[in-house]
Amino acid sequence: MNTSEFKFQTSDKKVENLSVTWQTPSNIALVKYWGKSEPQIPKNASISFTLNNCHTITSIQFNRTSESSEADFELFFEGKKKDDFKPKIAKFFKRIQEYCPYILQYKMIISSKNSFPHSSGIASSASGMSAIAMCLMSLERELNSTLSDAFVNKKASFLARLGSGSASRSIEGPLVVWGNHPEIKESSDLFGIKFPYEIHPIFENYQDTILLVDKGEKQVSSTVGHNLMHDHPYAENRFIQANENLEKLSVILQNGNIKAFINLVESEALTLHAMMLTSNPYFILMKPNTLEIINKIWKYREKNNSNICFTLDAGANVHVLYPHSEKTEIELFIKNNLAGFCQKNQYICDSVGFGAKPL
Ligand code: DP6
Repeated sequence: MNTSEFKFQTSDKKVENLSVTWQTPSNIALVKYWGKSEPQIPKNASISFTLNNCHTITSIQFNRTSESSEADFELFFEGKKKDDFKPKIAKFFKRIQEYCPYILQYKMIISSKNSFPHSSGIASSASGMSAIAMCLMSLERELNSTLSDAFVNKKASFLARLGSGSASRSIEGPLVVWGNHPEIKESSDLFGIKFPYEIHPIFENYQDTILLVDKGEKQVSSTVGHNLMHDHPYAENRFIQANENLEKLSVILQNGNIKAFINLVESEALTLHAMMLTSNPYFILMKPNTLEIINKIWKYREKNNSNICFTLDAGANVHVLYPHSEKTEIELFIKNNLAGFCQKNQYICDSVGFGAKPL
């Protein structure tokens, strides 16, 4: 795999101090990434909706110092020093050092906050890592003014991927594909790309209401879960199925066949959790209320001929997906019939968004 284009070449300018701030979103996968090989190469291609309201805002203050052998940084989360997040970020910096050697010449003060409640079970690694990647690319652009917007986004996604796979899908929107797939032109295992075909209007401004079923720390991290796909008896078939599903979904997103969309997206969510149930050691991230909600959604859909559906990420929370045209009645259904299954009745109303923004 050719990564040479991502190696920093030359600077045309010296930068002593720089302060940058980026807002980057979370995303929700429709075809799931579950299983990877070194270095952060997915076993199958995935696709996600970029979210709008769930985001991270990260500022980095870069101050030039003498060059050191490892990245020198301080980390603040929601105003407080957060040393327990440091090892993950240190590992990320180590991984990207060969592509961004300039980071070793700066002391970096990183300050981050999320728009969603702390430990809500919403994956913050996607928005968190993509925000750091965008900040680094702002410095890179100061050092080399010839970089194009397209290259900046591509390298930001490449870097974010090395921090967290799903983060590669949090730079752009509304739909991003990550992972090489023969039917998706320009797709790559190294970075995410915008879904390259015209999307049917029904999928524009799609809604995602995130039901916070369980806000606690996950018992099994994504990293451990991905690793358990290595000796998994169904892994190879799952990777084939995911790539086939992406091909089918690509057609659906263009032709607007929403019933097929619902079927494929729910099947992907349940298959992801089926992989967890059949791992060794096995584990369950869904909670009783996750299943209560799924059953209520199915009943409501049947009774009202609705286009509501759900997906899950690696946790107990339920993402309720629906077209904008059904927003009023589905929001009422969520408020009256589903909120009671959430911790403290909490849920987050979100919709499809368009990616990273400088602040
Ligand atoms: C279930 O991106 O969190 O949300 O690469 O180890 O950081 P790492 O994993 P991560 O895995 C996300 C898994 C998922 C599915 C998805 O987003 O595609």
